Amino acid sequence: MSKEKKPTKPSLNKNTLKTAKRLLGYVTKTYKVQFIIVLICILVSSIATISVSLSLKFLLDDYIIPLIGQKSPDYTELYQALGILACIFLSGVIASFIYTRLMVVIGQGVLKRVRDEMFEHMQKLPIRYFDRNTNGSIMSLYTNDTDTLRQMINQSIPQVLMSALTIVVTFIAMLVLSPILTVLAVVMIRVMTAVARMVGGNSGKYFVRQQLDLASITGFVEERMTGQRVVKVFNHERISEEEFDQLNESLFVSSSKAHTFASIMGPVIGNMGNLQFVLTAVLGGALSVLGIGNITLGVMASYLQFTKSFTQPFMQIAQQFNSIIMALAGAERIFNMMDEEPEVDEGYVTLVNAKKDAQGNLTECKERTGLWAWKHPHQADGTVTYTELKGDVRFYDMTFGYTEDHMVLHDLTLYAKPGQKLAFVGSTGAGKTTITNLINRFYDVQDGKIRYDDININKIKKAD
Ligand SMILES: Nc1ncnc2c1ncn2[C@@H]1O[C@H](COP(=O)(O)OP(=O)(O)OP(=O)(O)O)[C@@H](O)[C@H]1O
Ligand SMILES: [Mg+2]
Repeated sequence: MSKEKKPTKPSLNKNTLKTAKRLLGYVTKTYKVQFIIVLICILVSSIATISVSLSLKFLLDDYIIPLIGQKSPDYTELYQALGILACIFLSGVIASFIYTRLMVVIGQGVLKRVRDEMFEHMQKLPIRYFDRNTNGSIMSLYTNDTDTLRQMINQSIPQVLMSALTIVVTFIAMLVLSPILTVLAVVMIRVMTAVARMVGGNSGKYFVRQQLDLASITGFVEERMTGQRVVKVFNHERISEEEFDQLNESLFVSSSKAHTFASIMGPVIGNMGNLQFVLTAVLGGALSVLGIGNITLGVMASYLQFTKSFTQPFMQIAQQFNSIIMALAGAERIFNMMDEEPEVDEGYVTLVNAKKDAQGNLTECKERTGLWAWKHPHQADGTVTYTELKGDVRFYDMTFGYTEDHMVLHDLTLYAKPGQKLAFVGSTGAGKTTITNLINRFYDVQDGKIRYDDININKIKKAD
């Protein structure tokens, strides 16, 4: 249990933008058409929502108010207007149904691809990678971190796009309806974003910390579960428990802080939205009575509707912000793993089935003969030589360490003749397992002083 416990540390920096781009690349490359449809549907849906609010003005000012007090009112035009409104509303509903469905397909598809690529890459990683990272923290990439990605693709991306569009279109509509009242709205939005930044500014950091702590705790539990026998043998239960408590406490602190900030945000912005509603109503009413700014009953009704729906997208973006930060941190960890250098195997000497011909020369053959030969291609002249596998293993002046600063084997020379049985005896940590690791070529030695039947081990293909 000598593994390092901390997973690689992500941070929010210029890499974050690169990560976001790379993640978006997954979406746009595999699901280009679908994503374009999603964008169109989002546009349709937000325009439909706004048209419904905006139509209040026209319904009131142009259709309903003129009918008031008439002896025999003619409702045909009103019905027509309502019919058009219903159509717009319906198209909005259909559009939002389509894009939510599509985003689920895209999200799950991207995740499947990410998991596939992750696993495929993991198979190629050198043993060293698994020394540096606990199994649990690697597993956390497949579970916790991919889950944050799912949430981001399924929820955050469409939500933020929708909200941003709604803000822009609503703002234009508000400006057209009443420039004076819009000044008030702008001031309120400034205040709201400042408050949001004050309250939520820190929470992103804690969401990232929470993911890291989650990876640590998963790693720890996995390690202690597989090593439970060792824990018991060495009466290590109490210390184990203390170590777990520490990690658990850290997770408690980071997730409490993250979620406290996030949950304050909603009510704060919501209440400020209500305040804005009241202020707009008072100011609008006063202006209308004073006859300033051409504010009719229809304008007021429409505008108030917009005021209500204007704060909502800000709140939604603020809420999604944390999910996005969390997902990007998760994506960064996943991409870090995918970017780990895969193991390169420069070995070219392979082991093949062989038989002896009449002259006693070795030749390669497909079937099992019980006789094995090292197949040794020579690049210089294109020839191939075969030498019989005997099983002679020699170490010459081997010096090896897992890390540069801590050598485990010093000047080790040993040999095992073909068929000879050898035993390693030594205190724990002496390097017995290390020797077998080197024989298997789990770790490469720079000097290349291990030889199999006089062949440098670095020339032998790992699988062979
Ligand atoms: N994957 C690793 N990364 C870094 N250091 C390691 C790694 N594996 C072993 N070591 C270190 O190398 C040294 C030799 O370890 P090794 O496992 O070879 O000993 P051993 O003789 O097999 O001990 P034991 O009898 O307990 O099995 C120890 O100091 C150990 O801490
Ligand atoms: Mg050992």
